Amino acid sequence: RDEPLVLGIETSCDETGVGIVRGHTLLADAVASSVDEHARFGGVVPEVASRAHLEAIVPTIHRALADAGVTLSDVDAIAVTAGPGLAGALLVGVAAAKGYALAAEKPIYGVNHLAAHVAVDTLEHGALPEPAIALLVSGGHSSLLLVEDLARGVTPLGSTIDDAAGEAFDKVARLLGLPFPGGPPIDRAARSGDPSAIPFPRGLSAARDLAAHRYDFSFSGLKTAVARWVEARQRAGEPVPVEDVAASFQEAVCDVLTAKAVDACRAQGVNTLVIGGGVAANSRIRSLAEERCARHGITVRVPRPKLCTDNGAMVAALGSHLVGAGVTPSRLDLPADSSMPL
Ligand code: KG4
Ligand code: ZN
Repeated sequence: RDEPLVLGIETSCDETGVGIVRGHTLLADAVASSVDEHARFGGVVPEVASRAHLEAIVPTIHRALADAGVTLSDVDAIAVTAGPGLAGALLVGVAAAKGYALAAEKPIYGVNHLAAHVAVDTLEHGALPEPAIALLVSGGHSSLLLVEDLARGVTPLGSTIDDAAGEAFDKVARLLGLPFPGGPPIDRAARSGDPSAIPFPRGLSAARDLAAHRYDFSFSGLKTAVARWVEARQRAGEPVPVEDVAASFQEAVCDVLTAKAVDACRAQGVNTLVIGGGVAANSRIRSLAEERCARHGITVRVPRPKLCTDNGAMVAALGSHLVGAGVTPSRLDLPADSSMPL
């Protein structure tokens, strides 16, 4: 009961998420998604996302409060994603958070979306041991972070130099005629495919690339390799073995992500790896990370899939951590920052 009750608001992309936590305990996780409205465009349309947030934000806040069985006056603090993300989408969440904070006289915390993807794990596995390495893989980001003090910020070690991992899943799914977002259908198709059927490239993994890009990722060459392979098949009038392509592509992505994450843990002398972001919901990244980390005595923490994709609970989790760490709240004029650094 002494632990802070925090309401978190997330609107950086296409999910309107409102979560409520007390300490590390998740009380409500309400999400309204506009993903179906974007599906026919094959990607998130910023204007459509902003409009959907505007319509969903107030009902979603009220649904979360009802689910948690609390009222706004019970809440100790309001946390909101202030960036990075789509500018117009972020603005809706930040404006709503300010309105409720002002009306209910609550402190407000503007938080970083990537740090929130790390913090959400505390709802599943308790306080995060520090230092930890975080691998964040979503539709918008692919980053390796050194987490020495989650409340004061995290240190980026590397990130993608082109497409994000989730973006690669979405683009390859499209090539294969699978629906958007592409991660879940590729994950499903890959289960009946052979991951070693096609030797797709492992971006930035050759010795010469590692010198300058040890912790960076590149997925655009992989996407192009898949496109060429599929086109060659089609030109030859042969059927495309969707399951094998999906499995081989997924293996290439998960191989590079987990190899670099383990390398970061070993080089930094860290024995906790936390994986977050939508791609962390992938079944292969989870099993491969377990397998490779076990070999080096590294503990892997991956939250359940529903907490990996964007949601308000992750923002509330980080807010709760900030309140617990005695961090000063943000000012009421805090801006939304679409390219917010860590
Ligand atoms: O974290 P998230 O919900 O939103 C962003 O911040 O981008 O991540 C969405 C991304 C999409 O690209 C989606 O295809 C991918 O996560 N994703 C997956 C899986 N589930 C979602 N990728 C691979 N395997 C999955 N099972
Ligand atoms: Zn995200």
